[in-house]
Amino acid sequence: MKKIVLATTALFAIMGAHAADQATVDTYNKTCVICHGTGAAGAPKFAVADEWAVRLEQGMPALVKAVDGGMGAMPPKGMCTTCTPEEFEKLITYMSTGK
Ligand code: HEC
Repeated sequence: MKKIVLATTALFAIMGAHAADQATVDTYNKTCVICHGTGAAGAPKFAVADEWAVRLEQGMPALVKAVDGGMGAMPPKGMCTTCTPEEFEKLITYMSTGK
């Protein structure tokens, strides 16, 4: 139960953010979409809240770190070699909420 409450809180915190800017959408469409668009290799799918809830529980810093260093089938930096941690944050918000 506590986990569900935490996940919901994290989701609301993220959903309160502004809509993604164009640069974030463009970067997503060039890189992250390759796996996260379809859920290839077990990647949490774009804007599917159920799949993101357990990930979001860890908090944004841990998620950024996972992308930066790579995780499982995800290569380091999720194939966006020029992305900064700030950009990863925006990308994660966009891909977990669709906004
Ligand atoms: C080559 C495929 C691939 C690409 C490209 C990719 N991902 Fe992933 N991503 C995955 C997979 C697979 C997982 C699940 C890894 C696991 O659970 O072992 C994942 C997991 C994640 C997670 C969850 C990490 C966690 O700690 O649970 C985040 C956040 C994420 N990706 C963000 C991104 C971002 C942002 C991009 C684009 C810059 C991106 N990914 C590009 C395959 C990819």
